[in-house]
Amino acid sequence: MTKALQWGGRFAQEPDAALLAFGSSLEEDMVLAPYDVACSLAHVEALSSGGVVDARIAGALRGALAQVQAEIESGDFARWARSHGGEDVHGAIDARVRALCEGGEGEFLHAGRSRNDQVATTLLLYARARGEEGHTLARGLAERFVACAREELEAGTLLCATTHGQPAQPALLSFWLCAAAEPFVRATRRFACTAADAKRFCPLGSAAVAGSSLALERAAAASALEFEAPSRNAMDAIGNRDAVLDVAHAFVRATVDASRIAGELVTWCTPAFGYVRLSDAVSTGSSLMPQKRNPDPFELVRGIAAELTGSYAGALATLCGLPLSYHRDLQQTKRLSIAIIERGGAALRAFVRAFDGVTFERDHLNAHAADGYSVATDIADALIATGVSARRAHERVGNAVARAEREERALSAADLAELGVTAPLAAMQSVQGKRTTGSTNPHEVVKTIAAVEQELRSG
Ligand code: ARG
Repeated sequence: MTKALQWGGRFAQEPDAALLAFGSSLEEDMVLAPYDVACSLAHVEALSSGGVVDARIAGALRGALAQVQAEIESGDFARWARSHGGEDVHGAIDARVRALCEGGEGEFLHAGRSRNDQVATTLLLYARARGEEGHTLARGLAERFVACAREELEAGTLLCATTHGQPAQPALLSFWLCAAAEPFVRATRRFACTAADAKRFCPLGSAAVAGSSLALERAAAASALEFEAPSRNAMDAIGNRDAVLDVAHAFVRATVDASRIAGELVTWCTPAFGYVRLSDAVSTGSSLMPQKRNPDPFELVRGIAAELTGSYAGALATLCGLPLSYHRDLQQTKRLSIAIIERGGAALRAFVRAFDGVTFERDHLNAHAADGYSVATDIADALIATGVSARRAHERVGNAVARAEREERALSAADLAELGVTAPLAAMQSVQGKRTTGSTNPHEVVKTIAAVEQELRSG
Protein backbone atom coordinates (compact mmCIF):
# COMPACT_ATOMS: atom_id res chain seq x y z
CA MET A 1 0.00 0.00 0.00
CA THR A 2 1.34 3.48 -0.92
CA LYS A 3 2.42 5.50 2.06
CA ALA A 4 0.25 8.59 2.22
CA LEU A 5 2.78 10.50 4.29
CA GLN A 6 5.59 12.13 2.37
CA TRP A 7 8.12 12.00 5.19
CA GLY A 8 9.32 9.61 7.89
CA GLY A 9 12.92 8.63 7.16
CA ARG A 10 14.36 10.58 10.05
CA PHE A 11 11.80 9.41 12.61
CA ALA A 12 12.14 6.32 14.77
CA GLN A 13 8.51 6.39 15.93
CA GLU A 14 5.25 6.28 14.00
CA PRO A 15 3.38 9.59 14.14
CA ASP A 16 0.67 9.88 16.77
CA ALA A 17 -2.53 9.02 14.90
CA ALA A 18 -4.71 11.44 16.85
CA LEU A 19 -2.34 14.35 16.23
CA LEU A 20 -2.07 13.44 12.58
CA ALA A 21 -5.85 13.51 12.32
CA PHE A 22 -5.90 16.82 14.21
CA GLY A 23 -3.49 18.33 11.70
CA SER A 24 -5.17 16.95 8.59
CA SER A 25 -6.76 19.45 6.23
CA LEU A 26 -7.82 16.79 3.72
CA GLU A 27 -11.58 17.46 3.95
CA GLU A 28 -11.36 21.21 3.65
CA ASP A 29 -8.73 20.95 0.91
CA MET A 30 -10.73 18.57 -1.26
CA VAL A 31 -12.12 21.44 -3.30
CA LEU A 32 -8.54 22.26 -4.35
CA ALA A 33 -7.92 18.84 -5.93
CA PRO A 34 -8.35 19.80 -9.61
CA TYR A 35 -6.16 22.87 -9.12
CA ASP A 36 -3.46 20.75 -7.51
CA VAL A 37 -3.53 18.45 -10.55
CA ALA A 38 -3.00 21.48 -12.83
CA CYS A 39 -0.20 22.65 -10.54
CA SER A 40 1.39 19.18 -10.56
CA LEU A 41 1.21 18.99 -14.36
CA ALA A 42 2.99 22.35 -14.55
CA HIS A 43 5.65 21.02 -12.18
CA VAL A 44 6.18 18.07 -14.54
CA GLU A 45 6.67 20.70 -17.26
CA ALA A 46 9.33 22.45 -15.14
CA LEU A 47 11.02 19.12 -14.39
CA SER A 48 11.10 17.90 -17.97
CA SER A 49 11.97 21.27 -19.59
CA GLY A 50 14.83 21.56 -17.14
CA GLY A 51 15.99 18.01 -17.88
CA VAL A 52 15.45 16.86 -14.28
CA VAL A 53 13.28 13.96 -15.48
CA ASP A 54 13.39 12.26 -18.86
CA ALA A 55 10.54 12.03 -21.35
CA ARG A 56 9.49 8.55 -20.18
CA ILE A 57 9.09 9.63 -16.57
CA ALA A 58 7.38 12.88 -17.59
CA GLY A 59 4.96 10.90 -19.78
CA ALA A 60 4.16 8.47 -16.96
CA LEU A 61 3.58 11.33 -14.52
CA ARG A 62 1.29 13.14 -16.98
CA GLY A 63 -0.67 9.91 -17.58
CA ALA A 64 -1.09 9.33 -13.85
CA LEU A 65 -2.18 12.92 -13.25
CA ALA A 66 -4.75 12.64 -16.06
CA GLN A 67 -6.05 9.52 -14.33
CA VAL A 68 -6.22 11.37 -10.98
CA GLN A 69 -8.19 14.17 -12.68
CA ALA A 70 -10.68 11.59 -13.99
CA GLU A 71 -10.91 10.06 -10.50
CA ILE A 72 -11.55 13.51 -9.00
CA GLU A 73 -14.44 14.00 -11.40
CA SER A 74 -15.93 10.57 -10.68
CA GLY A 75 -15.52 10.90 -6.92
CA ASP A 76 -13.14 7.94 -6.75
CA PHE A 77 -10.19 10.10 -5.75
CA ALA A 78 -11.96 11.51 -2.69
CA ARG A 79 -12.83 7.97 -1.57
CA TRP A 80 -9.25 6.78 -2.11
CA ALA A 81 -7.76 9.80 -0.31
CA ARG A 82 -10.07 9.37 2.69
CA SER A 83 -9.27 5.72 3.04
CA HIS A 84 -5.51 6.38 2.85
CA GLY A 85 -5.44 9.24 5.35
CA GLY A 86 -2.73 11.81 4.81
CA GLU A 87 -2.16 15.36 5.84
CA ASP A 88 -3.76 17.20 2.96
CA VAL A 89 -5.02 16.94 -0.60
CA HIS A 90 -1.59 17.93 -1.93
CA GLY A 91 0.08 14.97 -0.32
CA ALA A 92 -2.83 12.72 -1.28
CA ILE A 93 -2.47 13.56 -4.97
CA ASP A 94 1.25 12.88 -4.80
CA ALA A 95 0.51 9.56 -3.08
CA ARG A 96 -2.12 8.64 -5.67
CA VAL A 97 0.31 9.35 -8.50
CA ARG A 98 2.89 7.13 -6.78
CA ALA A 99 0.30 4.37 -6.46
CA LEU A 100 -0.73 4.67 -10.11
CA CYS A 101 2.80 4.61 -11.59
CA GLU A 102 3.75 0.97 -11.45
CA GLY A 103 7.31 1.57 -12.67
CA GLY A 104 8.16 3.89 -9.76
CA GLU A 105 8.00 7.06 -11.89
CA GLY A 106 5.61 8.59 -9.36
CA GLU A 107 8.51 8.87 -6.90
CA PHE A 108 9.91 11.69 -9.08
CA LEU A 109 6.88 13.98 -9.03
CA HIS A 110 7.91 15.81 -5.89
CA ALA A 111 11.49 16.46 -7.05
CA GLY A 112 12.43 20.06 -6.29
CA ARG A 113 8.97 20.71 -4.93
CA SER A 114 7.71 21.33 -1.43
CA ARG A 115 4.13 21.38 -0.32
CA ASN A 116 4.87 25.02 0.46
CA ASP A 117 5.14 26.14 -3.17
CA GLN A 118 2.55 23.54 -4.13
CA VAL A 119 -0.05 24.93 -1.69
CA ALA A 120 0.73 28.54 -2.64
CA THR A 121 0.36 27.82 -6.37
CA THR A 122 -2.74 25.66 -6.01
CA LEU A 123 -4.40 28.32 -3.87
CA LEU A 124 -3.70 30.96 -6.50
CA LEU A 125 -5.27 28.81 -9.22
CA TYR A 126 -8.31 28.28 -7.00
CA ALA A 127 -8.49 31.99 -6.12
CA ARG A 128 -8.30 32.92 -9.77
CA ALA A 129 -11.12 30.54 -10.75
CA ARG A 130 -13.37 31.61 -7.88
CA GLY A 131 -12.54 35.28 -8.47
CA GLU A 132 -13.77 34.84 -12.04
CA GLU A 133 -16.91 33.07 -10.81
CA GLY A 134 -17.49 35.90 -8.32
CA HIS A 135 -17.13 38.38 -11.16
CA THR A 136 -19.83 36.59 -13.17
CA LEU A 137 -22.08 36.34 -10.11
CA ALA A 138 -21.72 40.03 -9.21
CA ARG A 139 -22.28 41.13 -12.77
CA GLY A 140 -25.37 38.89 -13.00
CA LEU A 141 -26.77 40.51 -9.86
CA ALA A 142 -26.13 44.03 -11.11
CA GLU A 143 -27.77 43.15 -14.44
CA ARG A 144 -30.74 41.61 -12.65
CA PHE A 145 -31.38 44.74 -10.55
CA VAL A 146 -30.98 47.06 -13.52
CA ALA A 147 -33.38 44.96 -15.64
CA CYS A 148 -35.87 45.11 -12.79
CA ALA A 149 -35.30 48.88 -12.54
CA ARG A 150 -36.21 49.21 -16.22
CA GLU A 151 -39.50 47.36 -15.64
CA GLU A 152 -40.44 49.39 -12.58
CA LEU A 153 -39.48 52.65 -14.28
CA GLU A 154 -41.77 51.74 -17.14
CA ALA A 155 -44.53 51.02 -14.62
CA GLY A 156 -43.81 54.30 -12.77
CA THR A 157 -43.73 52.51 -9.41
CA LEU A 158 -43.10 54.80 -6.44
CA LEU A 159 -41.52 54.20 -3.06
CA CYS A 160 -41.43 56.13 0.16
CA ALA A 161 -37.65 56.37 0.52
CA THR A 162 -36.52 56.28 4.12
CA THR A 163 -33.57 57.36 6.20
CA HIS A 164 -33.25 56.02 9.75
CA GLY A 165 -36.10 53.70 8.70
CA GLN A 166 -38.44 56.71 8.75
CA PRO A 167 -40.33 58.23 5.79
CA ALA A 168 -37.94 60.65 4.07
CA GLN A 169 -38.79 61.57 0.48
CA PRO A 170 -40.77 60.05 -2.37
CA ALA A 171 -38.63 58.16 -4.87
CA LEU A 172 -39.06 55.81 -7.77
CA LEU A 173 -38.76 52.12 -6.97
CA SER A 174 -36.44 51.96 -10.00
CA PHE A 175 -34.19 54.44 -8.18
CA TRP A 176 -33.99 52.04 -5.23
CA LEU A 177 -33.28 49.18 -7.62
CA CYS A 178 -30.43 51.16 -9.19
CA ALA A 179 -29.11 51.76 -5.67
CA ALA A 180 -29.26 47.99 -5.18
CA ALA A 181 -27.34 47.44 -8.46
CA GLU A 182 -24.45 49.83 -7.77
CA PRO A 183 -22.69 47.80 -5.02
CA PHE A 184 -22.65 44.83 -7.38
CA VAL A 185 -21.17 46.96 -10.15
CA ARG A 186 -18.39 47.81 -7.69
CA ALA A 187 -18.16 44.14 -6.68
CA THR A 188 -17.75 43.23 -10.36
CA ARG A 189 -14.72 45.51 -10.58
CA ARG A 190 -13.35 44.19 -7.28
CA PHE A 191 -13.63 40.56 -8.39
CA ALA A 192 -11.99 41.33 -11.75
CA CYS A 193 -9.08 42.96 -9.94
CA THR A 194 -8.57 40.10 -7.48
CA ALA A 195 -8.77 37.45 -10.24
CA ALA A 196 -6.17 39.39 -12.23
CA ASP A 197 -3.87 39.66 -9.19
CA ALA A 198 -4.07 35.89 -8.74
CA LYS A 199 -2.65 35.57 -12.26
CA ARG A 200 0.51 37.59 -11.79
CA PHE A 201 3.30 35.64 -10.13
CA CYS A 202 3.66 31.86 -10.06
CA PRO A 203 5.20 30.50 -6.82
CA LEU A 204 5.92 27.05 -8.26
CA GLY A 205 9.64 26.30 -8.14
CA SER A 206 10.11 28.34 -4.96
CA ALA A 207 10.33 24.97 -3.19
CA ALA A 208 10.34 25.03 0.63
CA VAL A 209 11.66 28.55 1.21
CA ALA A 210 14.94 29.29 -0.59
CA GLY A 211 14.44 27.92 -4.11
CA SER A 212 15.85 24.72 -5.58
CA SER A 213 19.25 23.50 -6.69
CA LEU A 214 17.56 21.39 -9.37
CA ALA A 215 17.29 22.93 -12.84
CA LEU A 216 13.54 23.58 -12.68
CA GLU A 217 12.30 25.52 -15.70
CA ARG A 218 10.12 27.88 -13.70
CA ALA A 219 9.10 30.00 -16.68
CA ALA A 220 7.67 26.92 -18.40
CA ALA A 221 5.55 26.11 -15.33
CA ALA A 222 4.40 29.72 -15.01
CA SER A 223 3.32 29.90 -18.62
CA ALA A 224 1.62 26.47 -18.52
CA LEU A 225 -0.53 27.86 -15.71
CA GLU A 226 -1.06 31.19 -17.51
CA PHE A 227 0.72 33.31 -14.92
CA GLU A 228 2.52 36.44 -16.09
CA ALA A 229 5.87 35.36 -14.64
CA PRO A 230 7.56 33.22 -11.96
CA SER A 231 7.48 34.85 -8.52
CA ARG A 232 10.46 37.03 -7.60
CA ASN A 233 11.23 35.89 -4.06
CA ALA A 234 10.82 32.31 -2.89
CA MET A 235 10.38 33.18 0.78
CA ASP A 236 7.59 35.65 0.05
CA ALA A 237 5.98 33.39 -2.55
CA ILE A 238 5.46 30.45 -0.20
CA GLY A 239 4.07 32.52 2.68
CA ASN A 240 1.94 34.95 0.66
CA ARG A 241 -1.82 34.49 1.01
CA ASP A 242 -2.85 37.93 -0.26
CA ALA A 243 -4.66 36.88 -3.41
CA VAL A 244 -6.83 34.23 -1.78
CA LEU A 245 -7.63 36.62 1.06
CA ASP A 246 -8.55 39.31 -1.46
CA VAL A 247 -10.92 36.96 -3.27
CA ALA A 248 -12.38 35.91 0.09
CA HIS A 249 -12.76 39.59 0.98
CA ALA A 250 -14.56 40.25 -2.32
CA PHE A 251 -16.99 37.43 -1.47
CA VAL A 252 -17.55 38.78 2.04
CA ARG A 253 -18.21 42.26 0.67
CA ALA A 254 -20.63 41.04 -2.02
CA THR A 255 -22.47 38.90 0.54
CA VAL A 256 -22.72 41.87 2.91
CA ASP A 257 -24.07 43.95 -0.01
CA ALA A 258 -26.65 41.23 -0.68
CA SER A 259 -27.52 41.08 3.02
CA ARG A 260 -28.52 44.74 3.09
CA ILE A 261 -30.99 44.21 0.27
CA ALA A 262 -32.11 40.94 1.85
CA GLY A 263 -32.72 42.74 5.14
CA GLU A 264 -34.87 45.36 3.45
CA LEU A 265 -36.87 42.71 1.58
CA VAL A 266 -37.49 40.80 4.81
CA THR A 267 -39.11 43.97 6.19
CA TRP A 268 -40.95 44.78 2.98
CA CYS A 269 -42.66 41.40 2.80
CA THR A 270 -44.15 41.67 6.30
CA PRO A 271 -47.92 42.26 6.20
CA ALA A 272 -47.34 45.58 8.01
CA PHE A 273 -45.37 46.82 4.98
CA GLY A 274 -46.83 44.76 2.15
CA TYR A 275 -44.47 46.24 -0.45
CA VAL A 276 -43.35 42.83 -1.67
CA ARG A 277 -44.79 39.38 -2.15
CA LEU A 278 -42.52 36.36 -2.23
CA SER A 279 -43.53 33.45 -4.44
CA ASP A 280 -44.42 30.16 -2.78
CA ALA A 281 -41.30 28.60 -4.27
CA VAL A 282 -38.93 30.85 -2.36
CA SER A 283 -40.96 30.99 0.87
CA THR A 284 -41.05 28.45 3.66
CA GLY A 285 -43.78 27.48 6.07
CA SER A 286 -43.95 26.90 9.80
CA SER A 287 -44.26 23.47 11.37
CA LEU A 288 -46.79 24.92 13.83
CA MET A 289 -48.42 28.07 12.45
CA PRO A 290 -50.41 27.17 9.36
CA GLN A 291 -50.63 30.71 7.99
CA LYS A 292 -46.89 31.42 7.86
CA ARG A 293 -44.89 32.44 4.78
CA ASN A 294 -41.32 32.98 5.83
CA PRO A 295 -38.56 34.66 3.76
CA ASP A 296 -35.85 32.19 4.87
CA PRO A 297 -33.44 32.57 1.93
CA PHE A 298 -33.12 36.30 2.60
CA GLU A 299 -32.74 35.78 6.34
CA LEU A 300 -30.02 33.21 5.69
CA VAL A 301 -28.15 35.54 3.35
CA ARG A 302 -28.26 38.13 6.14
CA GLY A 303 -26.99 35.60 8.68
CA ILE A 304 -24.28 34.25 6.39
CA ALA A 305 -22.97 37.77 5.74
CA ALA A 306 -22.41 38.08 9.49
CA GLU A 307 -20.77 34.65 9.61
CA LEU A 308 -18.41 35.46 6.75
CA THR A 309 -17.47 38.80 8.26
CA GLY A 310 -16.35 36.96 11.38
CA SER A 311 -14.54 34.28 9.39
CA TYR A 312 -12.71 36.92 7.38
CA ALA A 313 -11.56 38.62 10.55
CA GLY A 314 -10.36 35.20 11.71
CA ALA A 315 -8.53 34.47 8.45
CA LEU A 316 -6.77 37.82 8.52
CA ALA A 317 -5.91 37.37 12.18
CA THR A 318 -3.96 34.20 11.36
CA LEU A 319 -1.37 36.45 9.72
CA CYS A 320 -0.97 38.84 12.64
CA GLY A 321 2.62 38.73 13.80
CA LEU A 322 3.33 35.62 11.73
CA PRO A 323 6.99 35.68 10.69
CA LEU A 324 7.78 35.55 6.96
CA SER A 325 7.94 32.17 5.20
CA TYR A 326 5.62 29.17 5.72
CA HIS A 327 4.11 28.23 9.08
CA ARG A 328 1.42 25.69 9.73
CA ASP A 329 -0.84 28.53 10.87
CA LEU A 330 -1.27 29.23 7.15
CA GLN A 331 -3.33 26.05 6.90
CA GLN A 332 -5.90 27.95 8.96
CA THR A 333 -5.74 30.95 6.62
CA LYS A 334 -6.41 28.53 3.79
CA ARG A 335 -9.25 26.73 5.56
CA LEU A 336 -11.06 29.94 6.45
CA SER A 337 -10.54 31.52 3.02
CA ILE A 338 -11.95 28.45 1.28
CA ALA A 339 -14.92 28.33 3.65
CA ILE A 340 -15.68 32.02 3.03
CA ILE A 341 -15.41 31.68 -0.74
CA GLU A 342 -17.55 28.53 -0.97
CA ARG A 343 -20.21 29.79 1.45
CA GLY A 344 -20.24 33.28 -0.05
CA GLY A 345 -20.71 31.85 -3.54
CA ALA A 346 -23.58 29.66 -2.31
CA ALA A 347 -25.23 32.64 -0.58
CA LEU A 348 -24.98 34.85 -3.67
CA ARG A 349 -26.42 32.12 -5.89
CA ALA A 350 -29.30 31.58 -3.46
CA PHE A 351 -29.87 35.33 -3.29
CA VAL A 352 -30.32 35.59 -7.09
CA ARG A 353 -32.76 32.66 -7.07
CA ALA A 354 -34.74 34.12 -4.20
CA PHE A 355 -34.90 37.52 -5.88
CA ASP A 356 -36.58 35.82 -8.84
CA GLY A 357 -39.47 35.10 -6.48
CA VAL A 358 -39.97 38.77 -5.53
CA THR A 359 -42.97 40.69 -6.87
CA PHE A 360 -43.33 44.35 -6.01
CA GLU A 361 -46.87 45.31 -4.99
CA ARG A 362 -47.04 48.39 -7.17
CA ASP A 363 -50.43 49.76 -6.07
CA HIS A 364 -49.50 49.47 -2.44
CA LEU A 365 -46.09 51.08 -2.95
CA ASN A 366 -47.67 53.95 -4.90
CA ALA A 367 -50.37 54.44 -2.29
CA HIS A 368 -47.83 54.84 0.49
CA ALA A 369 -45.09 56.84 -1.25
CA ALA A 370 -46.25 60.13 0.25
CA ASP A 371 -46.77 58.70 3.74
CA GLY A 372 -45.26 60.45 6.73
CA TYR A 373 -45.30 63.91 5.08
CA SER A 374 -42.53 62.82 2.73
CA VAL A 375 -43.19 65.80 0.41
CA ALA A 376 -42.32 68.30 3.17
CA THR A 377 -38.80 68.92 1.80
CA ASP A 378 -40.21 69.80 -1.64
CA ILE A 379 -42.46 72.41 0.01
CA ALA A 380 -39.52 73.85 1.95
CA ASP A 381 -37.47 73.92 -1.29
CA ALA A 382 -40.31 75.80 -3.01
CA LEU A 383 -40.24 78.38 -0.20
CA ILE A 384 -36.47 78.74 -0.49
CA ALA A 385 -36.88 79.28 -4.24
CA THR A 386 -39.06 82.33 -3.42
CA GLY A 387 -36.19 83.83 -1.41
CA VAL A 388 -37.06 82.58 2.10
CA SER A 389 -33.99 81.40 4.05
CA ALA A 390 -33.45 77.67 4.43
CA ARG A 391 -33.80 77.76 8.22
CA ARG A 392 -37.02 79.80 8.09
CA ALA A 393 -38.51 77.58 5.36
CA HIS A 394 -37.67 74.48 7.43
CA GLU A 395 -39.39 75.98 10.48
CA ARG A 396 -42.53 77.07 8.64
CA VAL A 397 -43.04 73.75 6.89
CA GLY A 398 -42.25 71.94 10.14
CA ASN A 399 -45.04 73.92 11.81
CA ALA A 400 -47.44 73.03 9.00
CA VAL A 401 -46.54 69.33 9.40
CA ALA A 402 -47.08 69.50 13.16
CA ARG A 403 -50.51 71.06 12.66
CA ALA A 404 -51.52 68.49 10.02
CA GLU A 405 -50.32 65.71 12.30
CA ARG A 406 -52.40 67.07 15.22
CA GLU A 407 -55.39 67.17 12.92
CA GLU A 408 -54.59 63.67 11.67
CA ARG A 409 -54.54 64.65 7.99
CA ALA A 410 -52.09 64.97 5.11
CA LEU A 411 -50.62 68.28 3.96
CA SER A 412 -53.18 70.04 1.75
CA ALA A 413 -53.58 72.71 -0.89
CA ALA A 414 -54.74 75.02 1.91
CA ASP A 415 -51.39 74.55 3.69
CA LEU A 416 -49.58 75.46 0.48
CA ALA A 417 -51.76 78.53 0.00
CA GLU A 418 -51.01 79.66 3.53
CA LEU A 419 -47.29 79.20 2.95
CA GLY A 420 -47.64 81.06 -0.35
CA VAL A 421 -46.04 78.43 -2.60
CA THR A 422 -46.95 76.04 -5.33
CA ALA A 423 -45.32 72.73 -4.50
CA PRO A 424 -45.97 69.05 -5.07
CA LEU A 425 -48.31 67.25 -2.71
CA ALA A 426 -48.29 64.03 -4.71
CA ALA A 427 -45.32 61.66 -4.65
CA MET A 428 -44.90 61.49 -8.44
CA GLN A 429 -44.84 65.29 -8.70
CA SER A 430 -42.15 65.36 -6.01
CA VAL A 431 -40.09 62.83 -7.92
CA GLN A 432 -40.48 64.72 -11.18
CA GLY A 433 -39.47 67.95 -9.49
CA LYS A 434 -35.99 66.69 -8.62
CA ARG A 435 -33.31 68.44 -10.67
CA THR A 436 -29.92 67.19 -9.65
CA THR A 437 -27.75 64.65 -11.43
CA GLY A 438 -28.15 61.24 -9.84
CA SER A 439 -31.53 62.12 -8.32
CA THR A 440 -34.72 60.09 -8.45
CA ASN A 441 -36.10 62.17 -11.33
CA PRO A 442 -37.20 59.64 -14.00
CA HIS A 443 -34.87 61.21 -16.59
CA GLU A 444 -31.96 60.78 -14.20
CA VAL A 445 -32.92 57.18 -13.49
CA VAL A 446 -32.97 56.53 -17.24
CA LYS A 447 -29.43 57.94 -17.46
CA THR A 448 -28.24 55.90 -14.45
CA ILE A 449 -29.61 52.70 -15.93
CA ALA A 450 -27.88 53.39 -19.26
CA ALA A 451 -24.58 54.23 -17.55
CA VAL A 452 -24.66 51.11 -15.38
CA GLU A 453 -25.50 48.94 -18.38
CA GLN A 454 -22.66 50.52 -20.31
CA GLU A 455 -20.19 49.91 -17.46
CA LEU A 456 -21.31 46.28 -17.16
CA ARG A 457 -20.89 45.74 -20.89
CA SER A 458 -17.37 47.11 -20.81
CA GLY A 459 -16.21 45.21 -17.70
N1 ARG B 1 -1.10 21.01 4.95
C1 ARG B 1 -0.33 22.21 4.91
C2 ARG B 1 -1.20 23.38 4.40
O1 ARG B 1 -2.21 23.12 3.87
C3 ARG B 1 0.82 22.09 4.05
C4 ARG B 1 2.02 21.57 4.73
C5 ARG B 1 3.18 22.35 4.32
N2 ARG B 1 4.47 21.89 4.68
C6 ARG B 1 4.91 21.28 5.78
N3 ARG B 1 6.11 20.97 5.84
N4 ARG B 1 4.14 21.03 6.80
O2 ARG B 1 -0.86 24.52 4.54
